[in-house]
Amino acid sequence: MKLAVAGKGGVGKTSITAWLGDWLARQGQDVWLVDADTALSLGQACGLSRTELPIPLIEREDLVRERIGSGMISLNPQVDDLPEALSVELPGQGPGRKRLLVMGSVSRAGGGCACAANALLKALLLHLVVERGAWVLVDLEAGVEHLGRGTVAHVDGLLMVSDPSWRGLETAAEIRRMAVMLGLATTALVINRLPAGTEPPKFPGLPEQVLTFPSLEGLSQRQLSSPSVLGLPEQAAIDGFCSRFVETLRSGER
Ligand SMILES: Nc1ncnc2c1ncn2[C@@H]1O[C@H](COP(=O)(O)OP(=O)(O)OP(=O)(O)O)[C@@H](O)[C@H]1O
Ligand SMILES: [Mg+2]
Repeated sequence: MKLAVAGKGGVGKTSITAWLGDWLARQGQDVWLVDADTALSLGQACGLSRTELPIPLIEREDLVRERIGSGMISLNPQVDDLPEALSVELPGQGPGRKRLLVMGSVSRAGGGCACAANALLKALLLHLVVERGAWVLVDLEAGVEHLGRGTVAHVDGLLMVSDPSWRGLETAAEIRRMAVMLGLATTALVINRLPAGTEPPKFPGLPEQVLTFPSLEGLSQRQLSSPSVLGLPEQAAIDGFCSRFVETLRSGER
C-alpha cells in the first residue's frame, strides 16, 4: 500500500508518518518512508542524526540522467537496484524493516532536472509497491501545490492531517478536492492535537473517514531535546491510533 501524507504546515504530517512507519514495521511489514518535503525532517523524526541522512535523489544528477535520459524522458527506467542504493536503514525494533528515501528540494536540482527526478521517483515508488509488496509512506511538503507532481501518482490513499483549526481544515478540504480530481478514491483525515472532550469540527468537503489524535505532553517535552518522535511515554496511545487508522483504510477499501 502506498500512502501520501498531506496538509497545512506544522500540523503533524511528519510525526504521523514516522509513527505509522514504526508501527507497521513492528507488525512485520517492510516499510519505505519517503521524505518528499524540502525540510528533510522525516529521517530525524525517525531517530537518525543529520549526518546519517541519505543523499537526496534530486542531487544524484548522474543517476537521474543515466536512468531517465536528458532529452526524451524514459517512461520505464530500470529502478530495481535503486531502493537499496539510495536508502538508509532506520533504527527500529522490527521484525519488519524501515528504510528512508529522500527526494530533496527541487530548487537544488541542477539544470532543471526536477521533472526527470520526479519521473524516476514515480517509477521507484511504483516498483516498491507493485514488485515488493511493501508499504510506502510519503511525507509531502505542506500545502497543495505539489500534489500534481509524480510523488502522488499511483498512491492508494491520501492521508490528510490538520490541526483543529479552520485554516487547517480548509487546506485539508482543498487537498481532498485535488485528490478527487486526480482520481484518488481513498482519503482519510486525522485531526491532530484535538483537546480532550472536544467534538471534531464539522467542515464541508472533508472525507467521511475522520480520526482524531490527542496532543502528547511527552512529545512536547521530547522536542526540547531531540527531533525524534519515537519511543515516547505515550506509545500505547500512538499504537492504538495507528491500528485504528490502518483498519479504517482497509474498511474504506472494502
Ligand atoms: N500530537 C502532538 N502532540 C504534541 N506535539 C505534536 C503533536 N503532533 C505534532 N507535534 C509537534 O508539532 C510540531 C510539528 O509537527 P510535524 O513536524 O510533525 O508537522 P509537519 O506537518 O510535518 O510540519 P511541516 O509542515 O513543517 O513539515 C513538531 O514540533 C511536533 O513535535
Ligand atoms: Mg513535516
